[in-house]
Amino acid sequence: MQAAANKFQEHLGTVPTEIHPEYKHVEGGATMKALAWFGAKDVRVVAAPIPDITEPDDVILQVTGTTICGSDLHLYHGEIMALQKGDILGHEFMGKVFKVGPNVTNLKPGQRVVSSFQIACGKCDYCKENLSSFCDRTNNSSLQNYMYGQRDAGFFGYSHFTGGFPGGQAEYVRVPIGEVNLLPIPDEIPDEKAMYLSDVLPTSYHTVVDTGVKPGDVVGIWGLGPIGQCAARWALLKGASRVIGIDKVPSRLQFAESKSGIETIDFSQYSDVTKRIYELCPRGLDVALDCGTFHEPKTLLHKVQKTLMLETDVSETVNEMIVSVRKMGRCGIIAAYAGYTNGFNIGALMEKGVRLIGNGQAPVLKYWEEILNDYIIPGKFDPTFMITHRVPIDDMAKLYSAFDNRIDGVEKVFVETQFSSAPSAGCPLTSRVDDWQS
Ligand SMILES: NC(=O)c1ccc[n+]([C@@H]2O[C@H](COP(=O)([O-])OP(=O)(O)OC[C@H]3O[C@@H](n4cnc5c(N)ncnc54)[C@H](O)[C@@H]3O)[C@@H](O)[C@H]2O)c1
Ligand SMILES: [Zn+2]
Ligand SMILES: [Zn+2]
Repeated sequence: MQAAANKFQEHLGTVPTEIHPEYKHVEGGATMKALAWFGAKDVRVVAAPIPDITEPDDVILQVTGTTICGSDLHLYHGEIMALQKGDILGHEFMGKVFKVGPNVTNLKPGQRVVSSFQIACGKCDYCKENLSSFCDRTNNSSLQNYMYGQRDAGFFGYSHFTGGFPGGQAEYVRVPIGEVNLLPIPDEIPDEKAMYLSDVLPTSYHTVVDTGVKPGDVVGIWGLGPIGQCAARWALLKGASRVIGIDKVPSRLQFAESKSGIETIDFSQYSDVTKRIYELCPRGLDVALDCGTFHEPKTLLHKVQKTLMLETDVSETVNEMIVSVRKMGRCGIIAAYAGYTNGFNIGALMEKGVRLIGNGQAPVLKYWEEILNDYIIPGKFDPTFMITHRVPIDDMAKLYSAFDNRIDGVEKVFVETQFSSAPSAGCPLTSRVDDWQS
């Protein structure tokens, strides 16, 4: 798939953009540790050139915290198109400003900042409304344009389908248009509370807010990885009367029950999830959120179709959601699908008047200040609840496998570099992936 997608993209040529993914290397050839993709289930920590200011709005960060996201697993499995060997991955990270380009006036070397996972231009119609994930001017992928008719913003470390920008699972990273895409963090907020403003917090918030979760709603959440765990907390904060989480990983089900007090359904015990939901909630759910993943089909039908490349993505979860919500219920697809699926229950969607909303790559800039100022600083939402492990960047390749196999009760991980501060009080100390229990 990668070779065909890259060939097609080459044939189409790239779309002109405001900024460019290639970066200048620092003089002298110094290198940094970075995680690069080489093939399905083949990622490696390599020595990559340290980036220098390449375009006048650039900021170079020394990364003080990075992590792995469920979306990285789609890359790890080769499910996202237009990956190239040697691409540096990682889209959720923070750091200290190391160098600024000549146009950058509001950021100073040494300042602590979080980076958005998407790269916004700050000036197009979408950016004017802070819909940063939908920026029109930073993604050069004509392949995405061909498939979707339009393009999302460019993303860090997320294949050439989203612009080919080197990512933040590295010791240094170049942030184009740094004044727009970096959020300064107050001194009293430690890295472990700030870093996830990059992605998982705004993403989970987006799907809850956009589906309009309100007091009294009954909310179902498919997938209890970090996104699902945060969505559960946001739903409760917005007044949901019940939250039901669905997964099959015992540690994740237990984590959700004990840490957030929600009800759960283990789909390895209840193979008919929809039937179980109606037993628990005869009226149906008000809101259903897809925080899962599409590379683990449950039914033979989809396993076969996916293996034969008759579909790229799988409709099982979305169908369960559409059937489980009440008439005029709302369904949010925050799980990052990218291609096509078969057997979609379009009839139930239409006949029940179900609303598909709360979708899309989440616009980080729309939410990150609100989350920081209204929830993190006053202590209403403490993102450290989801951090189960901290590892050095040297373990990044092993972390892909451990996170993919969900070993040792892993939820969210904090990955440290040579520039990180010591772990904050109450947060996990550094461990090595080799020592995790399988
Ligand atoms: N839209 C965005 O802006 C955005 C941003 C970040 C992440 N995401 C997406 O959100 C999703 C969740 O991310 P994460 O970091 O929590 O991932 P994760 O891989 O850690 O967690 C996914 C969970 O879904 C569960 N799951 C798989 N199939 C299921 C099924 N049929 N029913 C119920 N549960 C099922 C898995 O067991 C797992 O625990 C991913 O698809 C990711 O790509 C989207
Ligand atoms: Zn992500
Ligand atoms: Zn823009």
